[in-house]
Amino acid sequence: SFFFSTCSYTGFYVFLQALYPSPEEGWQIYSSAQDADGKCICTVVAPAQNMCNRDPRSRQLRQLMEKVQNISQSMEVLDLRTYRDLEYVKNTESLMKVVDGKLKVASENPRSLNPKGFQELKDKVAQLLPLLPVLDQYKNDAKMILRLREEVRNLSLVLMNIQEEMGAYDYEELRQRVLLLETRLHSCMQKLGCGKLTGVSNPITVRASGSRFGCWMTDTMIPSSDNRVWYVDGYFKGRRVLEYRTMNDFVKGQNFVQHSLQHPWAGTGHVVYNGSLYYNKYQSNIIVKYHFRSRSVLVQRSLSGAGYNNTFPYSWGGYSDIDLMADENGLWAVYTTISNAGNIVISRLEPQTLEVLQTWDTGYPKRSAGESFMICGTLYVTNSHLAGAKIYFAYYTNTSSYEYTDIPFHNQYSHISMMDYNPRERMLYTWNNGHQVLYHVTLFQVIKTSGD
Ligand SMILES: *[C@@H]1O[C@H](CO)[C@@H](O)[C@H](O)[C@H]1NC(C)=O
Ligand SMILES: *[C@@H]1O[C@H](CO)[C@@H](O)[C@H](O)[C@H]1NC(C)=O
Ligand SMILES: *[C@@H]1O[C@H](CO)[C@@H](O)[C@H](O)[C@H]1NC(C)=O
Ligand SMILES: *[C@@H]1O[C@H](CO)[C@@H](O)[C@H](O)[C@H]1NC(C)=O
Ligand SMILES: *[C@@H]1O[C@H](CO)[C@@H](O)[C@H](O)[C@H]1NC(C)=O
Repeated sequence: SFFFSTCSYTGFYVFLQALYPSPEEGWQIYSSAQDADGKCICTVVAPAQNMCNRDPRSRQLRQLMEKVQNISQSMEVLDLRTYRDLEYVKNTESLMKVVDGKLKVASENPRSLNPKGFQELKDKVAQLLPLLPVLDQYKNDAKMILRLREEVRNLSLVLMNIQEEMGAYDYEELRQRVLLLETRLHSCMQKLGCGKLTGVSNPITVRASGSRFGCWMTDTMIPSSDNRVWYVDGYFKGRRVLEYRTMNDFVKGQNFVQHSLQHPWAGTGHVVYNGSLYYNKYQSNIIVKYHFRSRSVLVQRSLSGAGYNNTFPYSWGGYSDIDLMADENGLWAVYTTISNAGNIVISRLEPQTLEVLQTWDTGYPKRSAGESFMICGTLYVTNSHLAGAKIYFAYYTNTSSYEYTDIPFHNQYSHISMMDYNPRERMLYTWNNGHQVLYHVTLFQVIKTSGD
């Protein structure tokens, strides 16, 4: 945009460019004396809209808009989740009503049921009762999401208006609103994210590439907006790690850079957490933390007593002695030692120093495990890497207790050599016979009610 104004010079051509260092960055003032009356004309060319972006406030505004955009994307994901959970709870609710109805019929007509059957029915209802507060909770969560969504919508409207009229709002206040929104969104996601695994979706094959064994993932830290995809083909003595810019690039096999590790890896139990790759160094029980941006090893430390070099692998072998993973609670190592007689041991690790913070002995033989993954502090173990595998065992670190489970999933390509949960995306990443496969998970949250 530009405008004209007259000035009092005559007969001269003046070019002013005093206030701003370069024409792209600000107002340009031209004046000339080509008017028919011999008057001087000043032409002021305002910076184009995209030039305005160099103004720091405008840049901040753009960042805010992007943040709000991101938040609203996350809201959509959340919305989908609650919707799914609500459906699940609704089904349970109708089940409960059926049982309740049966109970009523039985109590009105006691002769239709023998005392044993009656007691069984009563017990069943008692078991279902704790679901009531869960149902209420989900209803509340759904309301909370609606409210958050309205706030996001309001804020993005405000931001859109200011883009047209800069300076009308207090930037600091806006920033605070976005921050608050972001914090609430995170706690909301966190709250909905944690729970007990009750189901695994059908597999989603993202790509077919690489050898039979390998590992792929995105960053597992919450919160993080790092969407790069990491790809580590092979299970022993390798050094090559590919970094794809986005999931879309990964699907197409384009836009990647290569990292060459100083130390080769063993197994497929690597994990990317907060911009670093944590992996087991070949022929040792040393864990290496490799920082991608600086392309350097930040720390390496031996995992005391941990078996290595195919001494205690998962059922498929492949030097899978030490499996590193991350969940909502941080970084973990899953392995075993001679003193634990080959049973799976879980250690929580300090991400900076790799020190062991706490250790649990699950009692489950590692060689009988196909793979394992951690969700919300619970380790889930599959009973095979082959077709027919299911999630068979769960170890709760919060209560140091275990339980046998029977959660089926479809092992489409019949040879799983990697299975890890990504807490940010709430998905299982797997490597199945040269295919990169994802699964959605259903987590169920049980709210404690006093007196039960
Ligand atoms: C928004 O998300 C994109 C991609 O997910 C990311 O690159 C960008 O940094 C995020 N922006 C902000 C301001 O968080
Ligand atoms: C959004 O804006 C409308 C209209 O200004 C207002 O009534 C409503 O309370 C706002 N909602 C939230 C959650 O801030
Ligand atoms: C332990 O964690 C599981 C989910 O991982 C949860 O269902 C259970 O309620 C938790 N137990 C306690 C005592 O917090
Ligand atoms: C993530 O990494 C950054 C440096 O890259 C560090 O400042 C921060 O403390 C790390 N966060 C966690 C939770 O490890
Ligand atoms: C690892 O195992 C191989 C044989 O499978 C053996 O040759 C090698 O010496 C072992 N290395 C270590 C460090 O134990």
